[in-house]
Amino acid sequence: MIRKLYPILLLSLALTSCSEDHDSDYENIDLTERINAGGETTIFSTTTNAFSSPAPNLTAAETDNHFIGDLLFEASFVTAPAQVNPGLGSIYNNSACINCHPRDGRAKHPTNVNSANGLLMRASIFGTDEHGGPVAVPGFGLQIQNRAISGYTPEAEYIVTYTTKTETFADGTTITLRKPDITLTDTYIPLPAGVMLSTRLGTPIFGLGLLEEVPEANITALQDINDADGDGISGKANFVWNPFTHQTELGRFGWKANTASVIVQCAGAYVEDMGITNPIFTLESGHGQTNGGIPGTEPEVSMETLEKVALYCKTLGVPAARNTDKKEVKNGAKLFAQLDCAKCHVPKQVTGNASVAALSNQTFFPYTDLLLHDMGEGLADNRPDFMATGTEWKTRPLWGIGLTNLVNGHTDFLHDGRAKNIEEAILWHGGEAENSKNKYKNLNAKQRSDLLEFINSL
Ligand code: HEC
Ligand code: HEC
Repeated sequence: MIRKLYPILLLSLALTSCSEDHDSDYENIDLTERINAGGETTIFSTTTNAFSSPAPNLTAAETDNHFIGDLLFEASFVTAPAQVNPGLGSIYNNSACINCHPRDGRAKHPTNVNSANGLLMRASIFGTDEHGGPVAVPGFGLQIQNRAISGYTPEAEYIVTYTTKTETFADGTTITLRKPDITLTDTYIPLPAGVMLSTRLGTPIFGLGLLEEVPEANITALQDINDADGDGISGKANFVWNPFTHQTELGRFGWKANTASVIVQCAGAYVEDMGITNPIFTLESGHGQTNGGIPGTEPEVSMETLEKVALYCKTLGVPAARNTDKKEVKNGAKLFAQLDCAKCHVPKQVTGNASVAALSNQTFFPYTDLLLHDMGEGLADNRPDFMATGTEWKTRPLWGIGLTNLVNGHTDFLHDGRAKNIEEAILWHGGEAENSKNKYKNLNAKQRSDLLEFINSL
């Protein structure tokens, strides 16, 4: 059955919200079902390992493979030749998956952009390639590598400038927002004209198997490309080239839903982020510089490695929602729907039959529709990525977001980590979410605090 869930939610809320904003409205909201945010893959941990535990419903054999994948995810690659994990570079962004996805969570917006951090820059020039994707920058490719092993030249260094803008709430409170603009300097050859860059930070990687298994029809059913219902919110699926299956498929992963599957995301990370060739991407990204790889040992990681590291990302358990009985949290959930947040951050999704039984037929609560939305000029990277325009981004899942500070020691949100907390993330919403943001600005301090408390309960 195709489920279009939010109208049901909105209908029940309409019954409560036509009266004045009574304090007792929250009593009609029951969040019990949503505690199991990952269905049977939910883990009940409020420690710094909250994003790092295997789904509890895996078989013993799957759990063993998960832990092998865990070691691969943590492995630091080094310059070849070496006994363990050789092949880094020649050019790269970081030397281990875990460095950009710390504790399987989220990278911080770096204070020094050229340090080893969780940031990368996608790059392209105008147009589309033969598969409808972005066109690689001659000499630089689709991603900028700002580091190189000894004896080789990085493609460029990053340089960052910040601009600020102020948002004022209806009650007069003002918040100053800061936006990074990262460009390139010291490029190894002159940068061609018209290069488009997109800054992205490493995301949390738990729960991805569930997102991969949401039936495509459920996601496309939520689209409203021409905004036929006139609510100002459209929503459009990305369709992207899958270099593994050699076909165009629904995009689900990455900040612009520019990748179809977890395994392709992992394979792309090996080759582009670390310079590690693999069976899906066999060519080094080193703009003609070879990395001293030993002939005959390419690809540098095997299909089995790709499968295990992908299994790891797919089978990390999802942290349970907390404080679901608190009055403030329930009231926040009500506001979340009233402000139309739930139209994009769709609370509930289901999976169909999956090859990993633990992921089959789950009801779970990621708070995303997996669709692209125009988020306005403020968030725009102005770099199209398959069907995603320069102002469109995929709705981020909100599950686990309230544990970010505990696990990662920061609350830098949005694709480039510009928001210093959840409130700033909301204030950056524009485009299709402009109305939501404006409604948020009209709330009183208590209502704002309740909404934030709800999001922090996820
Ligand atoms: C230099 C930092 C960096 C490294 C190293 C890195 N990643 Fe990532 N990862 C990112 C960024 C940034 C994104 C978002 C990419 C985008 O939006 O295009 C991402 C996205 C992902 C996603 C998709 C998450 C989602 O919710 O859509 C997965 C899975 C992933 N990475 C796995 C890996 C694996 C496995 C490795 C090691 C083989 C790895 N990453 C290495 C930065 C990194
Ligand atoms: C039109 C669709 C849409 C609406 C409506 C919307 N959001 Fe979002 N939200 C997004 C997208 C897309 C992103 C990712 C934007 C980016 O990173 O540039 C996002 C990001 C976020 C983030 C940061 C998540 C992260 O992982 O960094 C938070 C928090 C958030 N939204 C909360 C809300 C709240 C609260 C509301 C209601 C007041 C709301 N959103 C309304 C689409 C929407």
